[in-house]
Amino acid sequence: MRIDIVTGLPKLLESPLQESILRRAQDKGKVEIVVTDLRRFAHDKHQTIDDTPYGGGSGMILKPGPIFECIESLKADRQYDEIILLTPDGEQFNQGLANELSLKENLLLVCGHYKGVDERVREALITREISIGDYVLTGGELAAAVVTDAIVRLVPGVLNDSESALSDSFQDGLLGSPHYTRPPEYRGIKVPEVLLSGNHAEIEKWRQEQRLERTRKRRKDLLNRERRA
Ligand code: 6GU
Repeated sequence: MRIDIVTGLPKLLESPLQESILRRAQDKGKVEIVVTDLRRFAHDKHQTIDDTPYGGGSGMILKPGPIFECIESLKADRQYDEIILLTPDGEQFNQGLANELSLKENLLLVCGHYKGVDERVREALITREISIGDYVLTGGELAAAVVTDAIVRLVPGVLNDSESALSDSFQDGLLGSPHYTRPPEYRGIKVPEVLLSGNHAEIEKWRQEQRLERTRKRRKDLLNRERRA
């Protein structure tokens, strides 16, 4: 799988994509993540990529020229399954969408300024628009990092058995169960007996009860939704 990310602020994406599991996924050749600096496609001496909005108003709008040229240059080398704009008015990202996108071969993520992108970019080039939640970020870069992280960890071979995505919160529509590690008692607080019992059937039953209970308490909305697994 290959994920291209187009941004005017490539530095914002450097460390989130170069650490831990995402680093290992790239080193193992499971996924290629390529960040392209939009300013390479600006032509004036100040490398301008945005401009004031027609009709007035606050904030800067990403100009069509650099984005068109940047995406066209990327498309000359490969066919993208989706060209995704990160924008607060997009479809809300969730685990289902992460699952769907993790099955694709080539994705192109375009980071918008929060005020926006010239509408002609959306009309001509963008196939899908994604938001990561109902709050406003200064730009799409952190959202692109979130979406990339959620997708890459689902690519086969990226996680090892102990990290398996199958038991994730949300993977089957429930929150996760409580976790404990050594020691068995810490500051007077004991690990639940069942987890030390070695009885795997009992442990599984306990975990499932805990997940249901936790979901009922914290996220009733998830229980009323159609389950994915
Ligand atoms: Cl994708 N972009 C911005 N600028 N703000 C957001 C967002 C994206 N998702 C939630 N808020």
